[in-house]
Amino acid sequence: MKIDVYFSPVQVDEMQLREKNVIVIDVLRASSTIVAALRNGAREIIPVSTVESAVKVSGNLFGDVVLRGGERNGKMIDGFNLGNSPSEYTEEAVKGKSIILCTTNGSVAMVRARHAKNMAVACFNNISLVADFMMEVGEDFSIVCAGKQSLFSLEDAVCAGMIVKLLSERDSLMLELNDAAVTAHVLYKTYNKNLLKMIKSCDHGRYLSGIGFEDDLKLCVEIDSIPVLPILAGNVIKLKKEETKTAAVTEAKPD
Ligand code: MLT
Repeated sequence: MKIDVYFSPVQVDEMQLREKNVIVIDVLRASSTIVAALRNGAREIIPVSTVESAVKVSGNLFGDVVLRGGERNGKMIDGFNLGNSPSEYTEEAVKGKSIILCTTNGSVAMVRARHAKNMAVACFNNISLVADFMMEVGEDFSIVCAGKQSLFSLEDAVCAGMIVKLLSERDSLMLELNDAAVTAHVLYKTYNKNLLKMIKSCDHGRYLSGIGFEDDLKLCVEIDSIPVLPILAGNVIKLKKEETKTAAVTEAKPD
């Protein structure tokens, strides 16, 4: 099982991810928000790369079941219903809704993986389930960190490193790691004793604290607090449910 970590989506293009098994990580905050929204009953997440696409896609869907969520510079986009804070995605707000999600880095990375064979969304909140899923698939995986404006993000790298650690605990002999995966694992070992300190001190953590989202940092480092697995199913991201496993995996294949 080969694990290739990419510290930024610019290191892989859509063609390289086509028909691959892909994990997309955006700890702050798109992955954490998706996990919260689906746990709270959102029907599906439709990731888009641009505000224009969000407007276009929502025009094609029935108004009362669709919400537009996302951010620019961490803040809610004008005309949208929700920002990108996991705490906004309550049951009351999202149950039964399709959410078009447009974020600066996270949703862009997810769109890039839209032709993957399997794609799952990962963060600290669902990390053990992600590792279980990878073991269950039992094939090579690319782990794509959303990063920040094409650059490295410490929190995503540490999360990727924790996935490597969980996989190595399950079967270290079968793992073949690229250099970035080895580095991510080392970073995890450096920071795992105090993930809250790490996230408060990283670039995007400091930025979010500065604009009033410090509470999100605490939510986003909680390990396995929301054990659900968002996966690509056609063009949308839905919860993987055991009973619909076969259908979901079939749907995840590109046209
Ligand atoms: C992103 O996609 O860049 C993020 O999720 C930004 C954020 O809302 O913190």
